[in-house]
Amino acid sequence: ESGFWSYDPGFKVTAPVESKITYIDGGKGELLHRGYPIDELANNAEYLEVAYALLNGDLPNAEQKADFFEKIREHTAVHDQLRKFFEGFRRDAHPMAIMVGVVGALSAFYHDNLDLSNEEHREITAIRLIAKMPTLAAMSYKYSQGEPFMYPRNDFSYAENFLYMMFATPADVDYQTNDVITRAMDKIFTLHADHEQNASTSTVRLAGSTGANPYACIAAGIAALWGPSHGGANEAVLEMLDEIGTVENVPEFMEKVKSREVKLMGFGHRVYKNFDPRAKVMKETCDEVLEALGVNDPKLELAMALEKIALEDPFFIERNLYPNVDFYSGIILKAIGIPTSMFTVIFALARTSGWISHLLEMHSAPYKIGRPRQLYTGETRRDFVKVEDRK
Ligand code: SDX
Repeated sequence: ESGFWSYDPGFKVTAPVESKITYIDGGKGELLHRGYPIDELANNAEYLEVAYALLNGDLPNAEQKADFFEKIREHTAVHDQLRKFFEGFRRDAHPMAIMVGVVGALSAFYHDNLDLSNEEHREITAIRLIAKMPTLAAMSYKYSQGEPFMYPRNDFSYAENFLYMMFATPADVDYQTNDVITRAMDKIFTLHADHEQNASTSTVRLAGSTGANPYACIAAGIAALWGPSHGGANEAVLEMLDEIGTVENVPEFMEKVKSREVKLMGFGHRVYKNFDPRAKVMKETCDEVLEALGVNDPKLELAMALEKIALEDPFFIERNLYPNVDFYSGIILKAIGIPTSMFTVIFALARTSGWISHLLEMHSAPYKIGRPRQLYTGETRRDFVKVEDRK
């Protein structure tokens, strides 16, 4: 009732973003990347194949796959001087705080004159960022542990290389990863690769619409992702499970949720009003990893009890609240030995291919600077009042 649109001579209802990359049917719980269902991609493709499809429109053929994987391998190392940048952070800094800073700083170490209207610059941006994110993510972990940085090994696969840089030390000359863990890590990357116009992708597009440096745009996306309502939810799920403690405490916790004291983290979604299709694959992956590791994590039992109760409770049913991608991912990551502070960093690593795909899609056609519309609900025009006359 109150409020009016700010006058804009060129006012057009801001059209929704047009994109060919990802389709979500929130009612059906369907997620397609370039038309391919997410469960088929996660269960059959490697993450880098999915990243290629997000960037180029189709899954790569054998030759395109080999070429793209080789280009990524060639650019996994980062400028050695970036070490000094890390050394400026406190050891106990949150790795997401470090990633926002370091990724933004890449524009100072590499291409601060990237022009995304240039096709070649677009490829440089995509390859370098996708290639370097695992290295930077692992460095932010090693720095927090006070351990030496590990150089990427290009005889390893993308997920294997990340786990190597995270957990190996210079003494681990014969480092071997568990294949089930590596495959699970790769699947987790795919399940987080893109998700249409979510908050962080919209941030990247808005920053990119000004022509800003692409590394700085991705840093803006990392900042947006960090929030507990978005990418920070996976870390918040584990904190929630720690707070609940045992299955016996679930009914009391659920009362706090229904009285709106707390949210059930890892549940609900802006778009899905049905199961998040990624949550189903994540749950299957969780079972595979825990079995392979011979781990019987009481947190999984607690999470399943929460899910069962929530799916039968009218409060959640009436609000179409289902588990989302973050509900089980933390349990897997914890089982792999990844600290909760790194969960959102892994989300950011994986989402980089989606963020870049949207940025390059926008720059590959005419676009206008973004400016979300405002409905003004403030004071109408009034005269100035001198300070001595103010009440
Ligand atoms: C991600 O957008 C994306 O695509 C994001 C993402 C991606 O891949 O980029 O999918 C990743 O961010 C997944 C979501 C991770 N966040 C969480 O798990 C945090 C917990 N979830 C909530 O904060 C919430 O569900 C949101 C933020 C995700 C969505 O919030 P909305 O849009 O307000 O949800 P809604 O409109 O469907 O809410 C309807 C009702 C409201 O109650 P009423 O006012 O009607 O009484 O449900 C309530 C909400 O308060 N509600 C919850 C709840 N989520 C919504 N109540 C308890 N627990 C929850 N988790």
